[in-house]
Amino acid sequence: MLLRNLVDFEDLTRAEWEALYESCSRIIERPSDFIDTCRGKVACNLFYEPSTRTNFSFQAAMLRLGGSVFGFADPNSSSVAKGETLKDTVKMVSGYSDVIVIRSPREGAAKAAALYSNVPVINAGDGGHMHPTQTMTDLTTITRLRGSVDGLSIGLCGDLKNGRTVHSLIKALAKFEGIKFYLISPRELSVPEYIRIFMKENRQWNVEVTNLDAVMPQLDVLYMTRIQRERFTDPLEYERNRGVYILTKRKLERAKERLLVMHPLPRVDEIAPDVDDDPRAVYFQQAQFGMYIRMALLADLANQEKKAPAPVPMGGHRRCGNPSCITKDEWYLPPLTKRIGEVDYCAYCDKAVGERAEQ
Ligand code: NCD
Repeated sequence: MLLRNLVDFEDLTRAEWEALYESCSRIIERPSDFIDTCRGKVACNLFYEPSTRTNFSFQAAMLRLGGSVFGFADPNSSSVAKGETLKDTVKMVSGYSDVIVIRSPREGAAKAAALYSNVPVINAGDGGHMHPTQTMTDLTTITRLRGSVDGLSIGLCGDLKNGRTVHSLIKALAKFEGIKFYLISPRELSVPEYIRIFMKENRQWNVEVTNLDAVMPQLDVLYMTRIQRERFTDPLEYERNRGVYILTKRKLERAKERLLVMHPLPRVDEIAPDVDDDPRAVYFQQAQFGMYIRMALLADLANQEKKAPAPVPMGGHRRCGNPSCITKDEWYLPPLTKRIGEVDYCAYCDKAVGERAEQ
């Protein structure tokens, strides 16, 4: 595989994704064939933000491949608390490890880390921006349980503004055919502008609605998400929206028999516990597929040669206006932008340059 870093699902072609999925399927069928695949390899997990599934599943994945893991789950226990920059932390740990897995509350953190790393970097979630390995988990779940992803009607429900799993999934699904998106959210929590532009550029069929029940009978997949409390700058906005969607067994009466109810987890109250026993509820299986697809990814990336990154120019010129962008903390980063149409977007967080996050 050509993939070096996994920052965004866009880093993969569909053929590369399919090869990774095939390797995941082989691991699921015969896990004992892979117990030495990463023997002697070491992963470093830098988790600047809380995590259960992602951190544990990456650890379990590496251990099951015969490798080892070190890192932190709380940056306050490391020199980050003394003010160390991301660049210095990454340069140092890339000398200790064969692959870096990073989660951060800052959007674009994994992209920034990859600029300075000698070893592959995997984005395990960067603020409200992207979460490509959750997307791999989601695609694995759908493919294993439905046979294929093409042609499905997918309902994305909840906090579509701040939910990084949703943003990643929408981007990834541009590589598939005939997907219909039902974007179900309160108006103030609808998808961000850069995702809307992405969907338009990629001609992705979508409709935005506020009522879950109205679209339930259309759906092949219902992807529930939590209202992302930690991303709200205005606590009142959170209070207005908490508990807005609660899926119950009764609501599922109108759904297709082969519907997949998915959730990246953790759930708060958006899926009632009485749904758990419905055969359509696959979120715990989904979490387990997450470990297998991360095994496939690590098997590939942790076995690559160390390679010095290209020299990085110093930053400090034009700045992104998004207060959650990694360039806000890490002042030395080069001001990378990409142009779509007439507009420049920050290459770290995807916000239009000059645009504020709270639009
Ligand atoms: C998600 C995340 O961290 O974005 N969790 C996960 O990784 N499975 C979803 C969430 O926190 O709501």
